[in-house]
Amino acid sequence: MDEQSLAALVQDLPVPAVRWFATTGSTNDAALEWINRGAQDGCLVAADTQTAGRGRLGRRWITEPGAGLAFSLVLRPQPWEAERLGLLSPLGALAVSWALEHDFGLQSEIKWPNDVLLGGRKVCGILLEAAWVGDSLRGVVIGIGLNVMRAAVPPAGQLLFPATSLEEVSAPAPERERLLKAILSAFFYWRARLASLDFLDAWQNRLAYRGQWVEVSGTGAPPVVGQVRGVAPGGDLRLALPAGEEILVSAGDVRLRPAGEG
Ligand code: BTN
Repeated sequence: MDEQSLAALVQDLPVPAVRWFATTGSTNDAALEWINRGAQDGCLVAADTQTAGRGRLGRRWITEPGAGLAFSLVLRPQPWEAERLGLLSPLGALAVSWALEHDFGLQSEIKWPNDVLLGGRKVCGILLEAAWVGDSLRGVVIGIGLNVMRAAVPPAGQLLFPATSLEEVSAPAPERERLLKAILSAFFYWRARLASLDFLDAWQNRLAYRGQWVEVSGTGAPPVVGQVRGVAPGGDLRLALPAGEEILVSAGDVRLRPAGEG
């Protein structure tokens, strides 16, 4: 891929400009910097290799040459979208899951809030970062990292959650250009429907661990154990506590509660 072929790939999508890097630190950083220089809504940054890729909760995200898809979209949210910031990273996860299903015949799940799982293993992560000036929102960057080839998956010892790649699940792996086009098309389709019940249904229908007991950690408070009920309209996870009371969880890491500890 190069900048010209990337621009041609997205020409029928609402993407006004693109930047392509053979190697960059983090496409999210490049997109945040571009926001400060006036990037418009829909601008796209993609890279073959990231040397300082970031994940959620301060983790690293490794992007090896030719092995993954790493890109970031600049959003300049409309007021109605800014009221629903909590739905933007799930929107990215839904776009990936939808594209995998409709364009590549692969059924995935979304581990709340926004990890995409294939066969229970993580294949894609999403990092949403906002650019604020004082208390006004200047823009948002949604960064998506997808493990395409086996080489994208770090050794098991470096992983907090089991991971996989498209190549492992269904070889030969789809071409990265086709994947990117399908994901972006699904992204813009669902973005226009962010406030709809259809969006919530599509997300919830793919929600991993529904009805199962999970532990939610990384919230800043002690881990909470509960049964996954679904997602609330604002994007929070609906969790039933052992005594039956339902709580809403707005941040954290969900993992299945090992059998016998529920
Ligand atoms: C996570 O699962 O913790 C989120 C991973 C997000 C990785 C993507 S790759 C493209 C973009 N650039 C980054 O530095 N991070 C995101």
